[in-house]
Amino acid sequence: MILITGGAGFIGTNFILDWVRYSDEVIINLDKLTYAGNLQNLTSLADNPQHIFTHGDICDREKVTALLNRYQPRAIIHMAAESHVDRSIHGPEDFVQTNITGTFRLLDATHHYWKNLTPPQKIDFRFLHVSTDEVFGSLDQQAPAFTENHCLRPNSPYSASKAASDCLVRAYFHTYGLPVLTTHCSNNYGAYQFPEKLIPLMIANALAGKPLPVYGDGQQIRDWLYVNDHCSAIRCVLEQGQPGETYNIGGWNEKPNLEIVHTICDILQTYQPADYHALITFITDRPGHDRRYAIDARKIERELGWKPAETFATGIEKTVRWYLENQDWVANVQSGDYRKWVEINYDGRSIQ
Ligand code: NAD
Ligand code: TYD
Repeated sequence: MILITGGAGFIGTNFILDWVRYSDEVIINLDKLTYAGNLQNLTSLADNPQHIFTHGDICDREKVTALLNRYQPRAIIHMAAESHVDRSIHGPEDFVQTNITGTFRLLDATHHYWKNLTPPQKIDFRFLHVSTDEVFGSLDQQAPAFTENHCLRPNSPYSASKAASDCLVRAYFHTYGLPVLTTHCSNNYGAYQFPEKLIPLMIANALAGKPLPVYGDGQQIRDWLYVNDHCSAIRCVLEQGQPGETYNIGGWNEKPNLEIVHTICDILQTYQPADYHALITFITDRPGHDRRYAIDARKIERELGWKPAETFATGIEKTVRWYLENQDWVANVQSGDYRKWVEINYDGRSIQ
């Protein structure tokens, strides 16, 4: 069996739902259920013995150790994190705690568990760390996309905490020989993404007739990856990746934010006609806002044969349709805590 951390979040949910479709191996899901974790995402697996949920914190070394000893996983997919850049600007401490201390405690507990495995089990074991392109910092307009060898130049408390966790993972390979794999992916989009991130926020606001808040001039570029493509890439790296190696995962979809928002408005218009474009509102920029991310995903294609299946056009169409068909899900996660966050992040920003 394998263990995933953060499996009740956006990418974790999609990973588990795909996992039970493509494999018959049991998956243990360790999740703290922060505001971003939602067990309702996995209700379709309630009676499925292939998914075992455990409520817990990756910072809780005893809990992690007990879990490893009990289930004896052959691999760990580490996704648990505080993941939202804007939240890291308003409250960086949780990011240091989960992303750095949590990753350290998880690695250390894993190292002790791994040391006591039989030699063949030790060779086959994998610790796959899911990281982000944001650790590489911001690119100039004409600069080549990030390769795996780009230096770490994180600019936000979120990306700094992820870069620190990457370094710890690397150290456990070089110092102790723990068979680790690290992936750096670009911005994901798809079903079950919490509506604090750009794409689901814009869809939810447009459907509610609320302003579509574009930071600064909206010309910041992100490189979009459909979440199920990310999940297939992780499965591929898990089975074929070389211990100690890092792999970039991207969808070859660099787009400015404003273009994304216009595309969402265009798609919504075909399903539910309204003047969504008129809701676009330019507001004060994010402090330290990275201008451009772009992922060079040639290594994973060349060495492991992985390529994304979706284009941006097909992925965004599926995504908008999912949100249209799952408006109850969105309403459920827009709880009291969500409304408080919207006030914290948006009320202080002036219209530009
Ligand atoms: P998310 O915020 O939707 O979910 C994070 C999950 O981790 C939640 O279920 C939460 O309850 C859980 N969690 C948080 N702290 C925890 C703790 N201390 N112990 C146990 N569980 C905890 O995040 P996501 O978008 O699914 O991202 C998953 C991973 O992928 C993260 O490591 C993130 O840095 C990385 N990543 C995400 C993106 C993206 O576009 N979403 C891009 C690149 C990398
Ligand atoms: P986000 O989804 O928060 O991901 P990240 O910051 O990790 O890239 O934001 C994607 C881009 O969209 C980023 O450049 C910030 C911008 N953005 C807005 O313009 N308005 C918003 O309300 C949000 C949430 C993001």
